[in-house]
Amino acid sequence: IAVQSDTDFRPAFHFTPNENWMNDPNGMFYHNGTYHLFFQYYPEGNTWGPMHWGHAISTDMIDWEEQPIALEPDEQGYIFSGSAVVDIENTSGFGDGETAPVIAMFTYHDPKGEEDGREDYQTQAIAYSLDEGKTFTKYEGNPVIQNPGIRDFRDPKITRDEVHDQWVMVLSADDQTMFYISQNLKDWNLASEFGRGIGAHGGVWECPDFIQMKVQGSDEKKWVLIQSLNPGGYNGGSGTQYFVGDFDGKTFTLDESMQDLGEDHHYWLDFGKDNYAGVTWANIPEEDGRHLFMGWMSNWQYANEVPTETWRSAMTIARELKLTKSGETYRMISTPVAELQKYTGKEFTKNTTNINGETRIANSEDIDISQAVISFEIENLKEQEYHFSLSSEGDDVLKFGYDHNSEEFYIDRSQAGLTGFNENFGDKISKAPRLSKASNLKVKAVVDNMSIELFFDNGKTVMTEIFFPKQSIERFSAEGNDFNLKNLNIKQVKLN
Ligand code: FRU
Repeated sequence: IAVQSDTDFRPAFHFTPNENWMNDPNGMFYHNGTYHLFFQYYPEGNTWGPMHWGHAISTDMIDWEEQPIALEPDEQGYIFSGSAVVDIENTSGFGDGETAPVIAMFTYHDPKGEEDGREDYQTQAIAYSLDEGKTFTKYEGNPVIQNPGIRDFRDPKITRDEVHDQWVMVLSADDQTMFYISQNLKDWNLASEFGRGIGAHGGVWECPDFIQMKVQGSDEKKWVLIQSLNPGGYNGGSGTQYFVGDFDGKTFTLDESMQDLGEDHHYWLDFGKDNYAGVTWANIPEEDGRHLFMGWMSNWQYANEVPTETWRSAMTIARELKLTKSGETYRMISTPVAELQKYTGKEFTKNTTNINGETRIANSEDIDISQAVISFEIENLKEQEYHFSLSSEGDDVLKFGYDHNSEEFYIDRSQAGLTGFNENFGDKISKAPRLSKASNLKVKAVVDNMSIELFFDNGKTVMTEIFFPKQSIERFSAEGNDFNLKNLNIKQVKLN
C-alpha cells in the first residue's frame, strides 16, 4: 500500500500531537488513575518555535488523549523542558486544603536575552495546578532560580527523596548536572555538581532525571542519573546515557564499577538514534513500584526536517526501567510497559523456521506487520551474522540484526524509504554492543508505521529508530547461514 501522505506515516499506538511540532516529554506524573504527559510544543508551526507545554492524558500510557495547552510563553520567555510532581503533603503551600497541588517546574528561555548576547537568559520557574494538571497558574515569585551566568542552564527534574525527606531537583548546566534541594518546592539550594570529565561530553548536557532504584533480585538500592546530551550520542546527534551511584542527600557519587568512565562507554538507555530527552513519571504509587519512562522519538540532527507536514515527532512507547547487577556491573534494562499487551489483537506464530539464505517469514496475508510486536529467539548462537528485514512491496527495506563475531547489533535504514531530507538520516548503520553473554538471543521489535524499537536480550540492549517507507511494511524476512528462528510470535497492535 503506497504511503500517500503524512497521515500514513502517523504511528497508530505511539503518542503524536494532533497538529504541529513536538519535542521533549515534560512534567510526567500520575494521579488518581491518570497518567499525564506534557511536551515541548509549538502550536503554530511544524518546526521548533516559541515553546509551550502541550498536554495529553491516558489511563494506560498507550492510548492518549490530547488536552488544551497547559503553559504558554510570557514576557519572561518560552516554556522549556521541566517536570511536575503531585505535592501530596502540600509542602509548597499552594494547596487549597481540598486537592493536592501539582507543581510544575520548567525553564524560562528569554529569547530577548539570547539576542542581546547575554549568558543568563535561562532561569527556573514554577507553576501550580489545583485541578489535577488541567490548568496551571504561574507563581508570582518567578523565577525561583536565577541564572548564575551559565548559557545552557535548564530542564529541572524534581524527585521526592523519601530517604532524606526532601525534594531533589537535577538541572543540566553546560557540561554537568547540578543538584538542588528544597523543602517547599519554591526555595532551592544548590547542593552539588556532577559530571565534568565523566561520561560522554560530545555536546551540551540536557534533560536529566534522578531516581532511586532497587537492584533486581536483591534489597540493594542505587541512585541513577539519566542524562541526555546533544550532540554526542552513541550513533551521533542526540542520545541518553546514565550513571549509577549513591546519594547522601547532597552529593551523587558514581559507583566504583563506573569510575574512569570516559567518552566511549556502554551506559546508554538506548543505542538507536531516536530516543532523546526521556525521563520518568513522578508519583507512581508504591504498590505499583515501577519506573516508567518515555522519550522523544527523534534526533536534533534532523527532527525539523522529517517528512511529515501536519504534525512532527512521536514519543517512544512507554517503557519500564529496571536496574540489574551482574558481578560488579550495573545495567539499566528497559521493556515496553505491560499495558501494551491490552491492545494486541490478531496473532501469528511459528515454532521453528529454518533460515538458510534469504527466507520470508511472514507477510501481510498472515498478519499486518506495520503495527505489530514481533518476538523471536535464536538458540545457540554461532560465530556468524544474523540479518532481519522489514520490507514493503516496493523497494523499502529496513534491516536490523546481530553479528556474533563482533557481538554487535545494528539497524540500517539507508534503504528503508525517504532519507534525502537530511544528510544525517540513513547515512550510517547504527550499531550497539551486545551486553548479554547468553547463548540464546531474544529479540522483541515494536513496529508502528514509521518506527522500530528493538529490545534485545530482554531489554539489555535497546535501539530505537524512525524511518519513512514509501509503501507500508508488509513483509518480515531473515537471512543467514542455516539457523533456526524459534518461537516466532507476531502480535498486531490495534488501538480500537
Ligand atoms: C532538549 C531541549 C531542552 C530544552 C528543550 C527546548 O531537546 O533542547 O534542553 O529545554 O529542548 O525545546
